[in-house]
Amino acid sequence: MVKMELKERIDRANIPNHVAIIMDGNGRWAKKQGKLRMFGHEKGVIPVRLTTEAAAEIGVKFITLYAFSQENWNRPKYEVDALMSLLVKTIDKEVKSFQKNDIRFQVIGDIESLPSKAQRQLQNAIDKTANNKRLTLVLALSYGSRWEMVEACKNIATQVADGSIKIEDINEQLFEKNLNTSEIPDPELLIRTSGELRISNFLLWQIAYSELYFTDKLWPEFCKDDLYEAIIDYQNRERRFGKTSEQIQER
Ligand code: FPP
Repeated sequence: MVKMELKERIDRANIPNHVAIIMDGNGRWAKKQGKLRMFGHEKGVIPVRLTTEAAAEIGVKFITLYAFSQENWNRPKYEVDALMSLLVKTIDKEVKSFQKNDIRFQVIGDIESLPSKAQRQLQNAIDKTANNKRLTLVLALSYGSRWEMVEACKNIATQVADGSIKIEDINEQLFEKNLNTSEIPDPELLIRTSGELRISNFLLWQIAYSELYFTDKLWPEFCKDDLYEAIIDYQNRERRFGKTSEQIQER
């Protein structure tokens, strides 16, 4: 019997709209090869391309990649500098392929903390791809979920202080509108590579009902089949949103 390809086992009627990924393990992968950590980050570009391509092919509409956390600023300066320039250079280089493949590029995080040249290059990629429709690729850069929520609180407090809203107007919808992700639906599926079982300050508000998937694969090893496997696993779960199993099956 011919083994069914993983991709064919995916239920096309139940594709997650938004997949978020904590890409982890570049450094450990490089070390295993006897190489410097930056070698792992450079190889980490390949799965970014493969995952984006695979997501677009099966109809995922949003993919968010945790590329640089606010805590990552505490790494040695040479690694921060090299990582930052790799990320921005890669995006700059990929703009043409985003255009060709109808991919919209977006960024979340404290973008003002990035070097000004990087800010300009990212803005250029955002502007050029703004009308693309097939898939939105969101890069979390200098991102921290607690920071994002504190910023939302400051915005809301300012609006209360200047009288444009009342305290009674504050609810979950208004809070969401003040997050970086106001235009992005919550992820149905969150994947983390490298065997670490943590969320690390990523999309804390947005993953309230997300399915979590952890794999031991290190990020540079992650391939299309790994994404398909995560999606098949997601499709075999029952999402109850606080209801009982019977209520879900009655629908
Ligand atoms: C974690 O590995 C990965 C990162 C810090 C993210 C950087 C990702 C890339 C450079 C891939 C390219 C991405 C884009 C969007 C072009 P780690 O250093 O934390 O690994 P470790 O836990 O093994 O030390």
